[in-house]
Amino acid sequence: MTDAPLPRPIVEMRGIDKAFGAVQALRGVDLVLYPGEILGLVGDNSAGKSTLMKILTGAYQRDGGEILVAGEPVQFKSPHESRDSGIEMIYQDFALCGNMDVGQNIFLGRWPLKGPFVDRGKMYAEADRVLKRLKVDVNSVYQKVESLSGGRQQSVAIARAISFEPRVVILDEPTANLSAMATERLLETMLELKRQGVAQIIISHRLVDIFAVGDRVMVLKRGEYVGDRYIRNTDEHEVLEIIVSGTRERALTADEAGARRPQ
Ligand SMILES: Nc1ncnc2c1ncn2[C@@H]1O[C@H](COP(=O)(O)OP(=O)(O)O)[C@@H](O)[C@H]1O
Ligand SMILES: [Mg+2]
Repeated sequence: MTDAPLPRPIVEMRGIDKAFGAVQALRGVDLVLYPGEILGLVGDNSAGKSTLMKILTGAYQRDGGEILVAGEPVQFKSPHESRDSGIEMIYQDFALCGNMDVGQNIFLGRWPLKGPFVDRGKMYAEADRVLKRLKVDVNSVYQKVESLSGGRQQSVAIARAISFEPRVVILDEPTANLSAMATERLLETMLELKRQGVAQIIISHRLVDIFAVGDRVMVLKRGEYVGDRYIRNTDEHEVLEIIVSGTRERALTADEAGARRPQ
C-alpha cells in the first residue's frame, strides 16, 4: 500500500520577525496551515498572535521571514492584496456599518450596479445566498445591522468575508464577547466552512472552543513559537502546560506536519 501524497499547505510562514520600536513582537515564527484545516493559535496576552495574523493579511509588514500561499511566495502590502490570494480576517469589531442593512454590509464598497443604479435585487439575492451557504440564522437581508445581536453581527461579518470566496479565514478572539449560545452557533459555522474546504485559524483564550472544532493547536510565547499539537493527540491540560512553561520546541517542517496528520 502506498501513502496518499501529502496535500500542499495553503499557507506557510517561515522565520517571521517583527519589531515595534524596542518591542520584539515576533522572533523567527513558523506556521503551516493545510487546506480545510482548523488551527487554533493560543498563548498569553502579547504573545504576538494578532501581529502574526496581521502580517499574514498584509495589515502589518514583516521585518524578516517569508510567506507562501499555495506554494507561491507572497508579499502583501495591504489586506486588499491578501484578499486577492483568498485570505480573509474577521476582526473583533467586525468593521460593519450599523446603520446599513445586512445586504448592504455584505457587499459594502462593491454594491452591484445596473446602469447608474444599485442593483438591489441582485445584491439582496446574493446576500441571501451567502447567508444560506453559512447556514446562519440571520433571517432578513433587509435588517439594519445595529438591530442585530453581537452573534448575528458576527455572522454578517463572516458572510461578508465568505462572499470573497476565501481559501483561508482568520478569526481573532471571535468568541470573546459572545453568549454561550452564540458561541455554539459560531463553532457550528466554522465546522460548516471546514466541510466546504475553507482553512481557518482561530485565535482564542478559550481552549474549550479550540478543542471543540480544531484539528491542531499552536502555541506562541513572547513572540516565539513554542510548540504545536494535533488536537486528537493532546488535551487541554498539556496545551496549558505548553502555554505556561513555554519550553521551546523545534517547529515541524511542512512535510513533518503533514506526515503526522491523523487520518
Ligand atoms: N501596532 C502596534 N504598535 C506597537 N506595538 C504593538 C502593535 N501591535 C502589537 N504591538 C505589541 O506587540 C506585542 C504582541 O502583541 P499582539 O500581537 O497584539 O499579541 P496577542 O494578540 O498575542 O495578545 C505586544 O507587546 C504589543 O504591545
Ligand atoms: Mg491579540
